[in-house]
Amino acid sequence: MPSEAEKELALAEYYEKIRNARVRLQTEFDKNERKEVDIKNFTALSVIGSGGFGSVYKASTNGQGPYAVKVQKKSFIRKYGLQKEIILERKLMAYMDSPFVMELLSHFKDADNLYLVMPLARYGDLYKMLKRSGAVPEARAVKIIIQVVLALEYCHACSLIHRDLKPHNILIFERGRVKISDFGCCVRSDGQVFGMAGTSLYRAPEMLKGDYYTEAVDWWSLGVIIHQVLLLELPFCGKYDPKPLVISSILNASIRTFKSPNYSETAENLVRSLLEKNQANRLGAIKPGASFVKNHDWFKNVDCTS
Ligand SMILES: Nc1ncnc2c1ncn2[C@@H]1O[C@H](COP(=O)(O)OP(=O)(O)O)[C@@H](O)[C@H]1O
Ligand SMILES: [Mg+2]
Repeated sequence: MPSEAEKELALAEYYEKIRNARVRLQTEFDKNERKEVDIKNFTALSVIGSGGFGSVYKASTNGQGPYAVKVQKKSFIRKYGLQKEIILERKLMAYMDSPFVMELLSHFKDADNLYLVMPLARYGDLYKMLKRSGAVPEARAVKIIIQVVLALEYCHACSLIHRDLKPHNILIFERGRVKISDFGCCVRSDGQVFGMAGTSLYRAPEMLKGDYYTEAVDWWSLGVIIHQVLLLELPFCGKYDPKPLVISSILNASIRTFKSPNYSETAENLVRSLLEKNQANRLGAIKPGASFVKNHDWFKNVDCTS
């Protein structure tokens, strides 16, 4: 067990790193790196995900791995004019440096595709976990969610808004380790940000209304996720509701309350503070947002440093 002094030191080092994160990311960002790797070196073992741009494979190379290899089709990227987003995603993943953020081990391309090689999350994503095992017991959910809070703390310190936080983009590793992934919708938060991004069910009201927004949209998505993880239900609407109904429920409806032994008053209080429709009053809206979220009672028994 680390002593109190060692814990204090670890915490001080952690905050120093967070303070330097944006500067470091900015410096590293413009470097032009090139990796001499080829998809022919990889053996695909199975498909583990498919998204808009292509598929994600479990694959090994030269007896090493398995890794996750995300294949992005160039034709798709060209068709939808997503070149800028794809380059940003790759660069961010290459240079972000947090245990709670998915890193890039390598990347390369051929005539048809771009390839991103990542560590493999053996337990898949949080969405699959919910489908497989049902609601997450609250004590375990706290340990998962605090890591998402730390990931957002890091992203926001780098002046980045994730904009597509949802269970599908939260990956589960051994020993309950969690990383957020999928930076294809990420945007720099300097100045006022506009524009629709991410997935309707997790979008904050200000984004849906076309207003300017801030990092607080990620805290909203986190509120939706906590509700879903504990109750297997979305807070405002059904998963299969038509889009106009989803939007009007997020904008106008109050949170559907459920009585469940897996939904303590403290959890409900946190969810309500994050799902505050007025972004100015939302928990996390005032900088440094993550500190306010971490200080909520729901997290009082978890160690925020490890
Ligand atoms: N490193 C990984 N380890 C395990 N599964 C992954 C990994 N990366 C992605 N996946 C799976 O593939 C899915 C799609 O990947 P993602 O990067 O989110 O692509 P998209 O931009 O298409 O949503 C994820 O929801 C997850 O199920
Ligand atoms: Mg995704």
